[in-house]
Amino acid sequence: MTEAQAAWGREVLLSVEDGIAWVTLNRPDKRNAINPGIVREMNAVLDAVEEDDAARVLVLTGAGSAFSAGQDLKEYFREPDQGPPLARERLLSANAAWQWRRMRFFPKPTIAMVNGWCFGGAFQVLIACDLAIAAEDARFGLSEINWGIIPAGIVTRAVADVMSQRDALYYIMTGETFDGREAAAMRLVNRAVPADRLRAETEALARRLMEKNPHVLRAAKTAYHHVRQMSWEQAFDYLLAKSDQTKYRDPERGDQEGMRQFLDEKSYRPGLQAYRRDG
Ligand code: ACO
Repeated sequence: MTEAQAAWGREVLLSVEDGIAWVTLNRPDKRNAINPGIVREMNAVLDAVEEDDAARVLVLTGAGSAFSAGQDLKEYFREPDQGPPLARERLLSANAAWQWRRMRFFPKPTIAMVNGWCFGGAFQVLIACDLAIAAEDARFGLSEINWGIIPAGIVTRAVADVMSQRDALYYIMTGETFDGREAAAMRLVNRAVPADRLRAETEALARRLMEKNPHVLRAAKTAYHHVRQMSWEQAFDYLLAKSDQTKYRDPERGDQEGMRQFLDEKSYRPGLQAYRRDG
């Protein structure tokens, strides 16, 4: 085992199979509550997945009955709160790094596979993932209000991005839970599927993403996140520049190949599928 590999494997598991990096939060006894160990290991796992050419899509899930029960009340809150402020700040910053700073702009597509409990802080990474599929019986909650804090970190900001104001405030203020079907109806996840289909459906989605040009996928998600903050005029200019940059940097020159296969070869229809990438 290399030094890099030794950086995870206890509280986070990684296995790369047929292009998919399966990343599993692995504290099932603690419902995968996010403690300093998960924070440390996840940052190392993200480095590894980023560098591994065999890993083309990242899927994040949890071991046992939970996706994640949110931040660990003992190891992430109580113990650091009693320690030196600088150490606490470092922990918060390292957690922000893996849960949303890096995940939102992760260079490869990311899918949250929500298999069970998903609470509080776990909404950060849930929303930072590009796509999310939940088991119909997964259970979500913004439980912070129940134990006397506001949804901090970046939870409230993230929720405001994807949930309607009525839904967000309802769940922030009541702390009630909702299931995977309701999460899909609210568009917090892309869809909910029966638990026994969760892995297969997630894998099928990952395979669909793998058919696309990975360079363009990365530019597309980056552009999406940035233009949301811009005026229409700024977005128009930025997207033109980003589009030129993407063509310039794309090792496949996908635009040329896509047009060639459609206009000259007449071998596919871009409205219905991706161009042949070995073409
Ligand atoms: N922090 C620390 N420990 C936790 C957490 C957590 N967020 N969630 C679960 N655990 C621990 C429990 O303390 C328990 O430990 P123990 O076996 O040493 O006593 C173990 O995980 C199992 O928990 P149970 O409550 O027995 O599991 P159950 O399946 O009955 O319930 C549930 C699961 C609903 C997730 C419950 O554990 C729970 O309410 N957890 C807290 C969820 C929460 O409010 N998270 C938000 C935190 S705030 C934030 O993230 C910003």
